[in-house]
Amino acid sequence: MRIDCITTFPAMFDSIMGESMMKRAQEKGLLEFHAHDLRDWARGAHRKTDDYPYGGGCGLVMMCEPLFAAVESVLGYEAGALPEARAGHDGSTRIIFLAPQGKVFDDEMASRLSTAERLVFVCGHYEGIDERAYSLADDVISIGDYVLTGGELASMVVIDAAVRKIPGVLGAERGAETESFSDGLLEYPQYTRPATFRGMEVPEVLLSGHHGNIDEWRRAQSLARTERLRPDLLI
Ligand code: ADE
Repeated sequence: MRIDCITTFPAMFDSIMGESMMKRAQEKGLLEFHAHDLRDWARGAHRKTDDYPYGGGCGLVMMCEPLFAAVESVLGYEAGALPEARAGHDGSTRIIFLAPQGKVFDDEMASRLSTAERLVFVCGHYEGIDERAYSLADDVISIGDYVLTGGELASMVVIDAAVRKIPGVLGAERGAETESFSDGLLEYPQYTRPATFRGMEVPEVLLSGHHGNIDEWRRAQSLARTERLRPDLLI
């Protein structure tokens, strides 16, 4: 998969994309990642990417012009080709805007995005984005009902959740199949050594070596935990 992020703060991606699983996905050749500075497509001496809102109000609004130019350039379209050039596209490349008014992100969306060939994320900032820029979006995604200062952190949440589902990214240590949400339930409790820590014991069944009993216990724990913490998932 190839992922491009269009942002006014490309350095924000350095640590998240340069460490741990996101780094390993790139080293394994399963992910190619690029963060682009939107200012590279902004005009004038000040390379402005935002301007005052029509109709008044406080804050600045991100301008259409650099956003369209950036997406056209990153995807290899001629200047001025979008949005018309993508009419009827096959969905293997998705353009994603991050914004609080988007569809709330979940595990199913992560699975769907993980099968795309290319993802282009557009990270908004300031008071918002000129509404006409949303004509480029295949998906508008929110990571929750709160407002962040920009789309960068949100895009990294979405990228992490999608990339870890690409076959081969997690490797043998841990599959994405047995974890929370993969079967609609929260994950069962996990323990490692020592068997007793400050008076707290690991459940006996996990030390028994009886795999049938262990599977049964884990399933029951998943259900009980989901009922207690996230009853909405069982409806
Ligand atoms: N940008 C600002 N707030 C956001 C949110 N909750 N989700 C996605 N992008 C955002």
